[in-house]
Amino acid sequence: MKKFIILFVVLTTSFTTQTFCQNTSASASVKNGQSVYESYCISCHMEDGKGIEGVFPSLVKTGNLTDKNKLVKIILLGLRGPISVKGTKYDAEMAGISMSDQEVADVINYIRNSWGNKAPLMKLNEVEVAKKAVVKGYQPY
Ligand code: HEC
Repeated sequence: MKKFIILFVVLTTSFTTQTFCQNTSASASVKNGQSVYESYCISCHMEDGKGIEGVFPSLVKTGNLTDKNKLVKIILLGLRGPISVKGTKYDAEMAGISMSDQEVADVINYIRNSWGNKAPLMKLNEVEVAKKAVVKGYQPY
């Protein structure tokens, strides 16, 4: 009987954690994206995503994060100015950062769903698509 109870407990906990993980996979991506952001982006774009005006552009409610294909390219291949963000001109350069597709998707999900930003989640397979996509007016670093 004791063995049966133990087995029952093990089975139910593994079942509930599985269900829980499926429900939270979306927020897990955003959460993991936060640590990617903290490793690779925070030094320039800052903890609050606002950057430093005139030097590092803000990522907060700028209307510039809608194009997922472009975001993937900016992260992996970098960006060469000039750009305009919230009325401020930037003519600088951001070097590309090498990271896994999962990290790219996660960090995009984090920046697009933080600091008041809100956007649908990017799926892992969309990263491969984005790498091959042609983005008009985009200049890599
Ligand atoms: C060394 C500093 C630095 C780091 C690190 C950095 N960036 Fe940037 N980022 C910049 C600069 C500078 C620009 C503007 C480049 C230009 O003038 O074209 C920029 C531009 C951008 C843009 C375009 C903004 C817009 O409104 O068009 C996005 C998006 C972006 N960065 C995201 C990221 C993400 C995500 C990371 C981390 C994976 C990151 N950056 C890491 C300096 C940095």
